[in-house]
Amino acid sequence: MNSTIHPFHIPLSRRRLLHSLLLTTGGIITGSVYAEALTLTPRATEGPYYPDHLPLDQDNDLTMITGGKAPASGVVTEFGGRLLDVDGKPIQNGLVELWQSDNNGCYIHSRGTQQGKERDPQFQGYGKVETNAKGEYRFRTIKPGLYTGRTIHYHIRVKQNDKSMLTTQLFIAGVPQNDRDGILRSMGTEEQRLSVIREFKPMSADSKELVGTWDIVIGKTPEEREQRGRGPGGLGGPGGPPQRRRDSADAGDKDIKDALFGPSF
Ligand SMILES: [Fe+2]
Repeated sequence: MNSTIHPFHIPLSRRRLLHSLLLTTGGIITGSVYAEALTLTPRATEGPYYPDHLPLDQDNDLTMITGGKAPASGVVTEFGGRLLDVDGKPIQNGLVELWQSDNNGCYIHSRGTQQGKERDPQFQGYGKVETNAKGEYRFRTIKPGLYTGRTIHYHIRVKQNDKSMLTTQLFIAGVPQNDRDGILRSMGTEEQRLSVIREFKPMSADSKELVGTWDIVIGKTPEEREQRGRGPGGLGGPGGPPQRRRDSADAGDKDIKDALFGPSF
């Protein structure tokens, strides 16, 4: 018997092979974990117009106010989807809040009326809904009106057990102003930005109402969301924009507008 061969001896070449296999396997495992993790919905500024006086009617149909005489003006849009954690698990009893401008670009806020415009009194402006056992939520609302310095957007906040988990904005694909919107451009990684620009399509062939789907993905804790949501272009990331941004329209502040959109916008 050759005494140099130990039963547990692994020749160097084989050891190298095993080592590389381990690395490969490690790579595959790591890769699959990341492949299964969903893209976190990026955060965005709350902006200046979170209602400073909430409407009496706060349901998830913003097109009609209880006791209202007519529906809100504008193109009716519906959107909904699931509230998920980063592993794809539905989150039940999450509170999803929506606030947005009316067809004239005005918010239900004491400073939310755009110059020369009037607020639509039939539009609810704010609504909220709790997610069901499947994590689902839904809103019926209108396409937000455009106002100076921004593209069309919905403001969304997600709360769990009264704790704010995410404040973000949702955008409609194909709106020309999207490409120049400083807030949209500052939101997370490219993949994350794409996750908040959704297609809204006619509900049926002869319908003027639009419908879109949007899953909202949050970290399991605010801290995790902070850490995992940071992308190269994200708030607080290297080279990222300042921590707090505001909608330019709140300010009437030329410096902020210039910083967000460039002096020519
Ligand atoms: Fe806004």
